[in-house]
Amino acid sequence: MEPDHPADPYDQLRYRGLIAWPERLRREAPLLERVLGTAPVTAVLDLGCGTGEHSRFLQALGYQVTGVDASEAQIVEAEACPPEDGGTLRFVQGGLESIETLVPAGFGGAICLGNTLPHLTELDALGHFFTGLASRLVAGAPVLLQLLNYDRILDRGERTFPVSLRPGEAEGEETVFLRLMTHQPGGMLNFTPATLRFRPGLEPPLELIAARNVMLRGWRRSELEGPLRDAGFEVREAFGSMTGDSWGGGTSDLVLWAVKR
Ligand SMILES: C[S@@+](CC[C@H](N)C(=O)[O-])C[C@H]1O[C@@H](n2cnc3c(N)ncnc32)[C@H](O)[C@@H]1O
Repeated sequence: MEPDHPADPYDQLRYRGLIAWPERLRREAPLLERVLGTAPVTAVLDLGCGTGEHSRFLQALGYQVTGVDASEAQIVEAEACPPEDGGTLRFVQGGLESIETLVPAGFGGAICLGNTLPHLTELDALGHFFTGLASRLVAGAPVLLQLLNYDRILDRGERTFPVSLRPGEAEGEETVFLRLMTHQPGGMLNFTPATLRFRPGLEPPLELIAARNVMLRGWRRSELEGPLRDAGFEVREAFGSMTGDSWGGGTSDLVLWAVKR
């Protein structure tokens, strides 16, 4: 099947169904509540919001949430699930590099989770995003950034992630989510997310549903902290995952808690 949005790597991946959202949100809730609990204003941004699960979670906690994502397909999916209590939840399509043109100033905090940041592959775009974000936030606003721990991935030359199996669309069918990486010079990675239909016992048991190439920049911790400071943020803490354990060379993720000065 041809993708509806050929240039959009997230079209066809059916991102919502690839993640065990209730479990993930339960795991992440304490850190999200700890960090966003310091927000001076309850209007917050979900940057690279994907299908909007974090946005809806925060909205249910009483935040006024604006989700931003470059992918038209993701925004369409996000808008298709309005909040149950009819509260304030807005989605905007656009790139983080031009965040200052997409949303007004005055937000009290922001999250940018799920390895969204590496989609900004150039230092200029990263700096522009941080500066634009700072201009949208009030003083004291917390920002939570979560990406994979590229210090680990680059140092070890890692090429794959654990395979994930999710219930499929039909009875007896599962969806396999496979993620491969091909290392390029300068910390660039050709990331290949792929979904396959798995029907054990049938021939062939595996069929490719979708596979994409996404060019990512594996930002190391040291490469992010300078541009954050230059844009007007103080880096308060670094965690190794969204459960709030300390960051180290071997942790799964890099999670930075920054605060707008
Ligand atoms: C892996 S998903 C993460 C979604 C969600 N935040 C999460 O934690 O699961 C990355 C998202 O970033 C979006 N994205 C990629 N490049 C972007 C850009 N330059 N500006 C805004 N969103 C972007 C993609 O469309 C995708 O929805």
